[in-house]
Amino acid sequence: MYGPKGQGSGGRSGGQTKKVTVPDIRARKRGLPLTMVTAYDFTMARLLDAGGVDMLLVGDSLGMVIQGHPTTLPVTVEDICYHGRAVARGARRAHVVGDMPFMSFQVSPIQALENAGRMMKDGAFESIKLEGGEDVAEHVRRIVAAGIPVMGHVGLTPQSVHAMGGFKVQGKGDQNAARVIRDAVALEQAGAYAIVLEAIPPDLAEEVTAAVSVPTIGIGAGAGCDGQVLVCYDMLGMFPDLEPKFAKRFAQVGEQIVQATQLYVEEVQERTFPAPEHTFKPNDPRRAPRPVMPASNEPAALTMDEIPPHWQTH
Ligand code: KIV
Repeated sequence: MYGPKGQGSGGRSGGQTKKVTVPDIRARKRGLPLTMVTAYDFTMARLLDAGGVDMLLVGDSLGMVIQGHPTTLPVTVEDICYHGRAVARGARRAHVVGDMPFMSFQVSPIQALENAGRMMKDGAFESIKLEGGEDVAEHVRRIVAAGIPVMGHVGLTPQSVHAMGGFKVQGKGDQNAARVIRDAVALEQAGAYAIVLEAIPPDLAEEVTAAVSVPTIGIGAGAGCDGQVLVCYDMLGMFPDLEPKFAKRFAQVGEQIVQATQLYVEEVQERTFPAPEHTFKPNDPRRAPRPVMPASNEPAALTMDEIPPHWQTH
């Protein structure tokens, strides 16, 4: 297991080893900064959880980093639920948030409530997140009234990439900044327990953080938020296609994966892997080891006694 008894070993988790809950997250307003990272599978969730992260977000960014699309738009509720179930199995301490994908909530508050409910049932999430401000406040109210905690998301909302003309900084200028503040306040009033602020100027993020009583979680919004979120593959240096200014690479895992793969290919081709320590005991220990065959592109022919009996036709 990773970390002491698989619990958070990195950062300061306030000594907390039990599940992080929505009230715990709310209580961190202006306290120890919250940490959230995206995760899409069991193994990564378990590693990030062992690192002491407070929240794991099954983000619709999976459309880009897992599925290879240029935007998040093709992601479905089924996709999010599938990855959510895997992440939930790896999250011992971290709170697991599911991202409502494009067109799973925009149509109406009822559609939003139905799909949020589906995600809680099928995706094993502990809360959901959705993009938008004033326009989705009623949607948030309906979902919260059903007992489902909602995280908001304002500023750069990637599901509106085409309307915004690309992944661009939002909230520039007085009017746009006022709009972001109105959006965040509307989400708080509708019952959101936390709000993601994406790609907005740091002074605006501080203003929003002061204007709402729930924690703000920034991504490209400066250090004045109540917490931070990053896409795990950006944080680990595994996704070279997009390198946003705010995505610090805390490791170069992508490079290590390529190097490890090159080494594996080399050792297999040189027949130095598998070595005896990676090999089971022979059936007959007295039998002389087979001579190592020279590397060749030609498949080597097996002798009759080397062919397993169930493969032999005569
Ligand atoms: O989908 C996602 O990864 C997100 C984060 C960037 C906040 O929404």
